Amino acid sequence: MSDSGELATLRDELISAINEAADEQTLEDLRVSSLGKKGVVSERMKGLGQLDGEARKTAGQALNRLKVEVTEAIAGRQAEFKQAALDARLATEFVDVTLPVRPRNAGTIHPVSQVWEEIVQVFGDLGFSVAEGPHIETDWYNFGALNIPDDHPARQEHDTFYFNPREDGSRMVLRTHTSPVQIRTMQDSEPPIRIIAPGRTFRCDSDQTHTPMFHQVEGLVLDEDTHLGHLKWCLEEFCKSFFEVDEVKMRFRASHFPFTEPSMEVDIGCSWVDGQVKIGVGDDWMEILGSGMVHPNVIRAGGLDPDKVQGFAFGMGIDRIGMLKYGIPDLRAFFEADLRWLRHYGFHPLQVPNLAGGLS
Ligand code: PHE
Repeated sequence: MSDSGELATLRDELISAINEAADEQTLEDLRVSSLGKKGVVSERMKGLGQLDGEARKTAGQALNRLKVEVTEAIAGRQAEFKQAALDARLATEFVDVTLPVRPRNAGTIHPVSQVWEEIVQVFGDLGFSVAEGPHIETDWYNFGALNIPDDHPARQEHDTFYFNPREDGSRMVLRTHTSPVQIRTMQDSEPPIRIIAPGRTFRCDSDQTHTPMFHQVEGLVLDEDTHLGHLKWCLEEFCKSFFEVDEVKMRFRASHFPFTEPSMEVDIGCSWVDGQVKIGVGDDWMEILGSGMVHPNVIRAGGLDPDKVQGFAFGMGIDRIGMLKYGIPDLRAFFEADLRWLRHYGFHPLQVPNLAGGLS
């Protein structure tokens, strides 16, 4: 009986030491000194061999119960430590998700994205859908199919970025304009065709109004009787909606593109005052797009019959008209990722352009 009394005392000591352990190291030391190889409980287990019969059985069961109790107490205390550590972390890493975003820290929508969206809205309203094509093009899609043969001077004008020649000698290019999407669209769809294709374009050129990567939006309308009058009306309507004015000063200049005949470049009236550009005022002009009636060779390259379909195409600089609309003086700044510039010229993420609510 004195044995079981001693065991009860040992139990009480161990359990209260465990419950009072101040940290995990103390707890671990207690585990080793009780249940470890040379721990008090283990030593007693070893001593069982000297007892016999009933006595061994009773003492063995008592020791086992003690072992289980101590093990559970240690696990319980460990769980408390874990919970306390978690509580401490939660307290320091607390984030109040109900706090409103501080405006200073909110990101802005880049003017190019905003203007892109505005263009899609306006042409969407005129019945155009949006088409796409790859940035890396074959020579044929970028030039050949667009009636620009190998020796044509327009190839030099495009300041093309070429990839290294492939085994067969052909070279892929970074598309110099969005016009290859004209060909891809003709190949993929049945007339009547009415698409715009906004996207990135690349030319080895850099100054205040040119960057090596820039954005264009292509337009293509093909059906049986679309003519130059439709082209002019469509672009005038676009400019009025886009610039949100009743009248826009526009100038259609006879020009030349291998893929259109006749061809026109379109300038928009503007003025530069102290490096600021304003649209619709002053006597300066800014070229914003090239356009014309799609050349029969191009229609043929697209797999259609120029005796059955005709129409117009245009290619407009997205960044350019963005600069004009929002009075942004230097195109290069568009792509410098300067946070101050982005905060100044960027748009609120919820300011989604739509015709009903006003574009800007
Ligand atoms: N692709 C021409 C350019 O980049 C623009 C253009 C497109 C002109 C379609 C006419 C028709 O300059």
